[in-house]
Amino acid sequence: MSSDYGFQQLVLLNSAGYERAELPLDESVSLIAPNNTGKTSLINALQYLLIIDKRHLDFGAHDKDKARRFYFPSNSSYILLEVTLPESGSVVLGCVGKGFSYDYNYFAYQGPLQIEEYRLDNGKLVTQPQLLEQLAHHGRTANFYSSTEFAEMVYGGARKRGQTSSEFTVFRLENRKDANAYRQVLTRTLRLDKLSSGEVKRHLLQIFSRQLPDSVVDFKQEWDKAFAEVNQDREQYRAAKNQQTLIDELDRHQEERLAIRGRIIARRPLIDDGLERWQNHYQTESKNLQHQHEKLRKQEADLLERDREQTRRQSELNQQLEALNKDEQRHDELGNRFALIHDRSELEQQLSSATEERNRQIALLSNAHGQSAAAIDDLIRREEEELSALGKEQETLSDNLYLTLKQHISKDRLSVLNRGLARQLLTLPPGDYQLDPNQLHRWLEGMAADRFELPGLNLSVADQPLQYQQRSNEEIIRLIDDCQSRLRQLQEQKTATQELDTQKKRRAKLEQEVKSLEKDLEQFDELTQLQNSRPDRLKEIATARQELAKIEHAQEQAGAQQQALREQIQEVANQRQALDAAHQEIDRIRQNRGDTDEQFNWLADLPHTPWVGDPELPLGQLAQTLRDYQRDCYRLKELDRDLDHRRINLHSGGLTKFQYAPNPEEEIRLMVEFRHHLAREAEALEKKARSAVVTVTASLRDLRGNLQSFENAMHEFNRLISRRKLSDLKVFRIQPVHESHLVEAIDLLIQTAEKVESGESFELFNQSSVLDDRQLDQARQLLIDEGSARHGLKVADLFRLTFELGKENQDVESFDDIDSAASNGTVLMAKLVTGLAMLHLMQDKTRNVQALCYLDEALALDAANQRSLIKTASEFGFALMFASPSPLITAHYCVPIQQMSNGKNHISRKHWQILQPLEAVEA
Ligand SMILES: Nc1ncnc2c1ncn2[C@@H]1O[C@H](COP(=O)(O)OP(=O)(O)OP(=O)(O)O)[C@@H](O)[C@H]1O
Ligand SMILES: [Mg+2]
Repeated sequence: MSSDYGFQQLVLLNSAGYERAELPLDESVSLIAPNNTGKTSLINALQYLLIIDKRHLDFGAHDKDKARRFYFPSNSSYILLEVTLPESGSVVLGCVGKGFSYDYNYFAYQGPLQIEEYRLDNGKLVTQPQLLEQLAHHGRTANFYSSTEFAEMVYGGARKRGQTSSEFTVFRLENRKDANAYRQVLTRTLRLDKLSSGEVKRHLLQIFSRQLPDSVVDFKQEWDKAFAEVNQDREQYRAAKNQQTLIDELDRHQEERLAIRGRIIARRPLIDDGLERWQNHYQTESKNLQHQHEKLRKQEADLLERDREQTRRQSELNQQLEALNKDEQRHDELGNRFALIHDRSELEQQLSSATEERNRQIALLSNAHGQSAAAIDDLIRREEEELSALGKEQETLSDNLYLTLKQHISKDRLSVLNRGLARQLLTLPPGDYQLDPNQLHRWLEGMAADRFELPGLNLSVADQPLQYQQRSNEEIIRLIDDCQSRLRQLQEQKTATQELDTQKKRRAKLEQEVKSLEKDLEQFDELTQLQNSRPDRLKEIATARQELAKIEHAQEQAGAQQQALREQIQEVANQRQALDAAHQEIDRIRQNRGDTDEQFNWLADLPHTPWVGDPELPLGQLAQTLRDYQRDCYRLKELDRDLDHRRINLHSGGLTKFQYAPNPEEEIRLMVEFRHHLAREAEALEKKARSAVVTVTASLRDLRGNLQSFENAMHEFNRLISRRKLSDLKVFRIQPVHESHLVEAIDLLIQTAEKVESGESFELFNQSSVLDDRQLDQARQLLIDEGSARHGLKVADLFRLTFELGKENQDVESFDDIDSAASNGTVLMAKLVTGLAMLHLMQDKTRNVQALCYLDEALALDAANQRSLIKTASEFGFALMFASPSPLITAHYCVPIQQMSNGKNHISRKHWQILQPLEAVEA
């Protein structure tokens, strides 16, 4: 089935040993020439225009450099292809040698292809430098392209500026991504003998890769990824389970920490306020107590002073009483003693008697003592004289000289007489004297006052005593008594002198007696005085006793008072001591209250358990609260360290999953929560393990699905290539055969996953059975090993292609290698059909542009097969060219290659032979 669009002709000028070659391409061609002439090299020239990419050019035994020299020996060597395209009509795609280093250049322009246009006026071929100008000269707008641009252009990619879309697009593919694969298959269709089973498989995969998302499954990675979490979780689960007790302790400590934090937060302002209040309280109270103390001290001192005063008074009173009592006693004593004495005079009488007695005795003794008896007698005589004188005086008392004189003379004259006359004369009684008062008077007048003159005698009486004193009778009696007493004394003296010792003793006794009496008198006076003072004294005693009693009572009371005071003082002292002690304690704790660390300032921002204690802090509880608070602060710090330590220990024990919590506290919370939900965790872990199986098999399912899709595609493909009978084959298909160990492993995993997913055997699949299932594990290991050996599992790894051939009446046979499947011709056919089918699949089937395929060594096929092939190729959109030493009559054209005398090959359109069935010609 020829097309209106497609390859028209291939022209070689000055290339591949051809001076000029014109080859029709719009129908099947039989290219005829002996061996080693240039059939293959002619067809290969098309590679430059269709394969383009130097890497994919394939000239069999000839290397690419050699080929370049062969195809582009000069800058006027041309390979030209004329194609008719639905969009732009005839186009010419060309390749021209550059002349140096056998390089070449692509160019293209709107056709048709006129060989004459390449010839200069001088008959020579135009060279590359002049080509565009030359073509332009013929009205062709040609451009040079780099190989990349050219390829893009030919396969419908980018275009040059000024170019319309698809202007030069020969091959429009359903998917532009297939360009590479297409070119490779195309290369092979030009050299079918080289098409191997492996390549068929590769190309088919490439072709179907559109339907098979290019999935390479790194099963190990997938597995590890899917189970990474499960394994990690399981490790964490185990770590938590093994460390349950430690976590419980952690929990307890954390709870304690939260509670302590709450308490500290609540108490801190209370304590600050309490401390301030305490300071005031302490100062006030301290002053108060001190004041009280001083007051009591003063009271005590006063009391003591009073006491001392009382004691002093007491002793004074006692002394007084003692004295009074003594007096009383004395009184009694003296009373008794003088009971019989009624009057003092009695005693006085006794005393004076005794005194007299004694004096007499003294006198007696003193007289006796100092005078001799004769002297005493003399004295006695004198006394007797005196006594007689006195007696006379007494007798003349009423009338004596003196008295008479006194009557007659002046006092002064009397005095002189009194001094000059003896006493006895003056007392003479009237009878014994005669007086002439005148005479006397006269006489006396002539006498000096102090002189007593007698005729012839003048006496000084100035110093003479008065001889006579006028005395009363009583006086005289007294004097007589005295005189008599003196006489008696003298008598006694006289006797005493005669008995002196006795008298002395008597004197002592008498003295004693006097003394005793004096004393008695004295004592009596005393008694009298005591008696007189007694009422006062008794009153005094009573008063003193009263006062004493009062003092005693007062002292007793003072004692009690003192005791009370002492107790009060002690009490105040105790209070002060207690207050000071409390203050010291509070101060001590305050200095070291333990909440100075930075963390205490933002404690409220940290997690804590609100404290529900008393919101008031009475001062009485301050110290205790402060102590508790301080203990809390230290405990908190201890807990901080402790909890960190425990947390780190849990890390060491493997529980690390919460390490990336925003803060350690959160981590602890999560750890504890985790521990409490271990049972749930176990369940979740199991679910996760199952879902990991499901996840891990998802990629396998994809792979498995892709395998299925590929199988479906192959089914389609086989239908395509079986449309026409190949040779004598009843069956020809390319069959994907599973790499069963891999596919079975995949299926096992998928089935497990399905069971798990459907939950149908929930009980059976506990976590360990999923993770530890032996078969599953083998499957997993196989997939991992195979995957790592192949750098990931691909669909291609899951099957190999076998070629199944079956002749009529024979069993279908499978072959891994197509080359060994049948005879050369049959194999060639099979390959060609396969290649064309592949190209066909890639092409845009809505655009019918016929290309070319080439069958070398075509003589291996019989005519029926030739026809069948031509038809098949045509159906796939290709004109088929056979090359053989002798002509094949099944082709439309027969084109012989002419060998010139200059050794160059030559094909001219004049030598083309068109073969037609007779009927057609006749018609
Ligand atoms: N790419 C190339 N580079 C250099 N020389 C080549 C190249 N291709 C072919 N030749 C040479 O061209 C000549 C013709 O070879 P070619 O293969 O075209 O002959 P043929 O007609 O196909 O022969 P046969 O019927 O045996 O296949 C040979 O001498 C060969 O060495
Ligand atoms: Mg050949």
